[in-house]
Formats: sequence, C-alpha cells, structure tokens
Amino acid sequence: MADKSHWEKVYSTRAIDDVSWYQTHAERSLKLIRELGIAKDAPIIDVGGGASVLVGDLLDNGYSNLAVLDLSAAALCAARARLGGHVIVATFAEDGPTECSGLPVMRYDAAHLHGEFGAPFELLGHERETHLTPAGRTQSFLYCFCRRQPH
Ligand SMILES: C[S@@+](CC[C@H](N)C(=O)[O-])C[C@H]1O[C@@H](n2cnc3c(N)ncnc32)[C@H](O)[C@@H]1O
Repeated sequence: MADKSHWEKVYSTRAIDDVSWYQTHAERSLKLIRELGIAKDAPIIDVGGGASVLVGDLLDNGYSNLAVLDLSAAALCAARARLGGHVIVATFAEDGPTECSGLPVMRYDAAHLHGEFGAPFELLGHERETHLTPAGRTQSFLYCFCRRQPH
C-alpha cells in the first residue's frame, strides 16, 4: 500500500521532532476537548495520531480511555516508547495468606510475578509490605514495578 509505505518511511527515517507537524504539546486539541466538557473517562480516539503528543497530554490531564489509530506501525511504536507503559502490581507474597474471603489465592515471589508479564516488561524493582488488618492480623504483600521495553 503506497500510503502506508510512505508514512512508514517518514517515521523510520526522521526524528519525531523533525517533521513539520511536530508540536511539543497539542495545546489546541487539548483546549477544545476541555471546552467540550468531555468526561475524563469518555473514550477518545486520535485518528491519524502518529507519534504525536496528544495522547500523552491527555494522560497528563487525567483522561484515561484513550486509543490511537494510525497507518504507520513505526509511528505507533515511537508513541508507545515515549509513553512508557509502566506497571505497578501488588499481590500476596509467597508467605502471605492462602485464602482471600474464603477463596484460594496465588502467592508470588518477585521473579514469579514478573514472569506473568513476560519478556516485554523489565522488572525495575520490588518491595514487600506487612499489612495490618482491622482485626489485628498481619499479611505479607509483594509490590513489583515493571517498565515496558521500547521496541
Ligand atoms: C501529518 S501526520 C500527523 C500525525 C499526528 N496527528 C500529529 O499531529 O503528530 C499524518 C498521520 O496520518 C497517518 N495516516 C495517513 N493516512 C492514514 C489512514 N488512512 N489511516 C490512519 N492513519 C493515517 C499517518 O501515518 C501520519 O501519522
């Protein structure tokens, strides 16, 4: 498809901030979305969004239900790499309770929990927490924080 090869070439050969449509922030789009009173959890799709900053600006302003549609995989990769995709997940640690509300649960150490996310995610670190329940019992929790690796 000629259009697709054109846009793939653009995004593969030029720096993101070296194209004529580059802007540091998508001020006007953001202003119009704000003025229209669109709810922060309303679905918003940026059609032809490329590697643009609009989605990052929307995330920074509390909008949460976002999608970008673009012909160019290279553009979408650049946007993903810029946005990061951090994950913070907490669960019962390997010495935590065996049940929650009467149901059996999985318990994890850091390597096992990181493994659930797979190779695209780098484990940045983990922390343990001893939670004191209202009934005065203690429960071991594990927090892992991972970052999606750029493509
Ligand atoms: C001039 S760029 C603008 C990108 C972005 N909106 C911005 O402001 O940085 C045009 C974008 O439209 C995308 N595009 C062109 N034709 C498309 C199509 N048929 N469907 C989806 N995206 C398309 C291109 O890949 C490119 O990212």
